[in-house]
Amino acid sequence: MLTLNLSSSLKKGLETQIIGQTIHLFREIYSTNDMAKELALIGAKEGTVLVAETQTHSKGRLGREWISPEGGLWFSLILRPKIFPEDASKLTLLAGVVVAKTLEKLYHLRAEVKWPNDVLIDGKKVCGILTESSTKGRYLSFVVIGFGINANFLVSKLPASLGDSATTLREELDKEISIEALLRALLEEMEYYYIIFNKGDFETVLAEWRRLAKFLGSYVYVRSLNEKVEGWATDVDEHGALIVKLKDQTSRKIVAGDVTIR
Ligand code: BTN
Repeated sequence: MLTLNLSSSLKKGLETQIIGQTIHLFREIYSTNDMAKELALIGAKEGTVLVAETQTHSKGRLGREWISPEGGLWFSLILRPKIFPEDASKLTLLAGVVVAKTLEKLYHLRAEVKWPNDVLIDGKKVCGILTESSTKGRYLSFVVIGFGINANFLVSKLPASLGDSATTLREELDKEISIEALLRALLEEMEYYYIIFNKGDFETVLAEWRRLAKFLGSYVYVRSLNEKVEGWATDVDEHGALIVKLKDQTSRKIVAGDVTIR
């Protein structure tokens, strides 16, 4: 289990220059994303990380509730990239790549990404990502990326309605993992891809994302803000929008929504 002396031991071995140079640990918190936004508004540095053992009001995408039992890895990261607001969603894809690659590297799991914010193992969700941003003038002032990783607990700790669609690392590996080692590896991988992103090379991130997006080519149902679309998920574009080819052979770009794979 995560302990409050994690911060110093974690930072000792952490090989990053920006990400995780400041880490705040909480036994219980409202929501690491909400707290991160509050800290960002009062000037918290880029790379600041907030980790909680449990959250009482954690949030998922589209205003949904997120359940954060003890044993999970629940954390948020503050970034201040010099990008336009419409490009913030690229960081959600980047974060998905970071999580999937880290699970591959550390535990040899065949993790995959599902547009826009899920990481799956064998079709079951093991991680959700929530990106929230704030703008100043034409540019972003900050982005908070929240990571919810189902780590050291059994699926039975989640609501029964999620039972078939969610998994945890504990279930997949049949043992507990070191939360500290996982968080350190994630922060290092995050820094690696964030440097690439800041050089303007989103193509490298996208190439990795496509490799990990096993659902591409599948028939999908997409519920976006104001419409329902179905067709073949063919690709993501250079802004991170999902491209769906409809039965009438036209293509639709989806900027925000939920995907169900048939
Ligand atoms: C989703 O799949 O809908 C996104 C879930 C994101 C959950 C994480 S847990 C840490 C951070 N704090 C929150 O309140 N939400 C994110």
